[in-house]
Amino acid sequence: MQFDELLQRRTVRRFLQKEIPEESIRKIIDAARRSSCARNAQRLRYIAVVSKEKVDAIFPHTAYAGSVAPRRNPVPGETSPTVFIAVYGTEEPDNMLYADAGAAIQSMEYAAWEENIGSCWIGSFNKEKTAEILDLEKEKLLFLVALGYKGEEPVQDEITLSGSPKYYLDEKDILHVPKYTVDTITKFA
Ligand SMILES: Cc1cc2nc3c(=O)[nH]c(=O)nc-3n(C[C@H](O)[C@H](O)[C@H](O)COP(=O)(O)O)c2cc1C
Repeated sequence: MQFDELLQRRTVRRFLQKEIPEESIRKIIDAARRSSCARNAQRLRYIAVVSKEKVDAIFPHTAYAGSVAPRRNPVPGETSPTVFIAVYGTEEPDNMLYADAGAAIQSMEYAAWEENIGSCWIGSFNKEKTAEILDLEKEKLLFLVALGYKGEEPVQDEITLSGSPKYYLDEKDILHVPKYTVDTITKFA
């Protein structure tokens, strides 16, 4: 896939109930581990949650698309994620570790997109319950990434400062994600 096509990636919150092969999951985590990280200290670790039992246990503790809620809440067993990747640290997080996680997750999202797999970065989730399910210390858990084959095709809108960056659903139930143009957000000095 060309970089231009990768840039078409959008967050997906409706998933097909089709199993993701382990090979694709490995490819996604391979992209994460190659990402930039502070001091190259590689303090991130991953749990690929593939067992249906555990995915179903975590799902109720995750939240989706607040701006259009509840219309993009995945429906369990119909449009819900089929895999979660839990991203955690080898130690309690500092700012650099959160930055590392950002770089790693963005890489995972692009790698998934190349496999035709949609992803949703999850910051709104119940860390305590999820950590308990995964047998982790809650303090070390950073983010979840929800994965599944794409069950929707969100689109990007171009906006300037007069437009709202709030994502929305149109009359055909397509999710639009407004992004500021380069000129809107850039000064050359
Ligand atoms: C740090 C972070 C936390 C996020 N947490 C959530 C979340 O809990 N639930 C959700 O539905 N989307 C979440 N998202 C996805 C954003 O809503 C999404 O990236 C944004 O709307 C832009 O859409 P795009 O990814 O298609 O460009 C999160 C994204 C980031 C970077």
